[in-house]
Amino acid sequence: MQFKTDVLRSNFPLWLSPMEDVTNPPFRRICKRFGADVLVTEFVPTDAIIRNVKTSLLKFQFSESERPLAIQIYGHLEDAMIEGAKMAAEAKPDFIDINWGCPVKKIANRGAGSGIFRNIPKMIRITEGIVKAVNLPVTVKTRLGWDENSKVIVDVAERLQDTGIMGLSIHGRTRCQLYTDEADWTLIGEVKNNPRMHIPIFGNGDVKTPERALEVKNKYGVDGILIGRATIGNPWIFSEIKHFFKTGEHLLPPSIDERVNVCREHLLACIEWKGESKAIGEMRKHYSTYFRAIPHFKPLRIELLQAKELDHILDLFEKIRMFNSAGADLQSVPM
Ligand SMILES: Cc1cc2nc3c(=O)[nH]c(=O)nc-3n(C[C@H](O)[C@H](O)[C@H](O)COP(=O)(O)O)c2cc1C
Repeated sequence: MQFKTDVLRSNFPLWLSPMEDVTNPPFRRICKRFGADVLVTEFVPTDAIIRNVKTSLLKFQFSESERPLAIQIYGHLEDAMIEGAKMAAEAKPDFIDINWGCPVKKIANRGAGSGIFRNIPKMIRITEGIVKAVNLPVTVKTRLGWDENSKVIVDVAERLQDTGIMGLSIHGRTRCQLYTDEADWTLIGEVKNNPRMHIPIFGNGDVKTPERALEVKNKYGVDGILIGRATIGNPWIFSEIKHFFKTGEHLLPPSIDERVNVCREHLLACIEWKGESKAIGEMRKHYSTYFRAIPHFKPLRIELLQAKELDHILDLFEKIRMFNSAGADLQSVPM
């Protein structure tokens, strides 16, 4: 086994941005196939890791084909963060990513995720402790700051760099913005163009199209980007961006047959990964985008979202496929 850390300095890597209940191994593998260069696990709570909570340890699992891959950890307790990072490192990912960006109230209010912006010395101390404790590269994913009046990322980035991290990903929002407003990339660009910075800087927030990916690359000079929500039900986004970078043209969108095949594979692999009922629930957030190209999809979408049995869902997939091959109006597909 060889760690693949060169990717952080490679030619504009596209990251599958970590997302809880989305970036599990089945979805990561599919995104990899369509061109994702860096994969990250869902975030894993260090207080649960050190108590050997099974559901958290399960999130360490990945296959060799997923490399380069980071395990992402979060928490607010210094000792637990360092112990948890060491335990994550034992799973031998290519690097450890620290989440200093999660805005969720119950996490941030405890001082974990983006809550750490209220105690920057602690953020630096824990990050440094982890860098020293693990025998792997460490990266950080964070936001611009706590709120509009404390967008401290330019200064914080320098201090994080001094801890010895190998890369920094920045989501262009503050904690208080949660997911509202447009992501603001100007400060991400400022971090990147700060002459004192030498580690790779990865930008994140609202990249949904190849055009936008090219724009942030050229305008802000970032070393790569993380794509989150735009991958949901759309793992093809990575190949679309790469094709656009190379040719200036758009790839043909995937056919409905391909959409059905990939979505079916995704569902079945998720069931294998976490059991039928949980997988069926989690897959619901993907369907609207997997099948967005289908005219008059609404009645089928409602049925898909309500279906609880695997057989029923597979049946609906076949109806979608039939619609495609008939090339006809959905009304003519027996429901
Ligand atoms: C459902 C969901 C779950 C998320 N879980 C995580 C997570 O576990 N770790 C993390 O660093 N960010 C998490 N995020 C944030 C995303 O990685 C990303 O930073 C954010 O969505 C902005 O990027 P986007 O505009 O490309 O989606 C999550 C976002 C969503 C929508």
